[in-house]
Amino acid sequence: MTNVAIWIVAIICLIDLSSCATTRFAPPPVTPDWSAKSDQIHLTMLREGRTLFVHRCIECHTLPAFWHYRTEDWPRIVDSMARRSNLKPAERDAIVAYILAARAQ
Ligand code: HEC
Repeated sequence: MTNVAIWIVAIICLIDLSSCATTRFAPPPVTPDWSAKSDQIHLTMLREGRTLFVHRCIECHTLPAFWHYRTEDWPRIVDSMARRSNLKPAERDAIVAYILAARAQ
């Protein structure tokens, strides 16, 4: 009986670990071809947005994958998180721009 319980716990742990690995999310770096439709200033803003996203949005939880939410939902989500992470309006804008650009790649 104890053996069965140990196996059940072990299996649950394994399932848990594997789901963790599949949800780990690496935000893509900004590459020059992202600016095909925009200019150099925009590229700098996107890079800054990525840096902010990677450093600030991981303070309380793992980084959310961009495809988990719809494009039109992201500005609202970042707005609500901007208050929690004390983002300046320009920083909030940079993060939204990065997420939307990354989604569009
Ligand atoms: C100070 C802590 C904190 C910081 C910093 C933070 N978050 Fe969150 N975030 C939370 C909490 C707590 C939740 C749980 C859901 C809720 O309470 O809205 C959450 C939930 C989320 C969700 C899920 C929302 C939903 O409706 O399912 C997303 C996406 C998200 N955060 C993105 C971000 C992004 C992007 C940033 C960086 C701009 C960020 N978070 C920074 C605390 C934080």
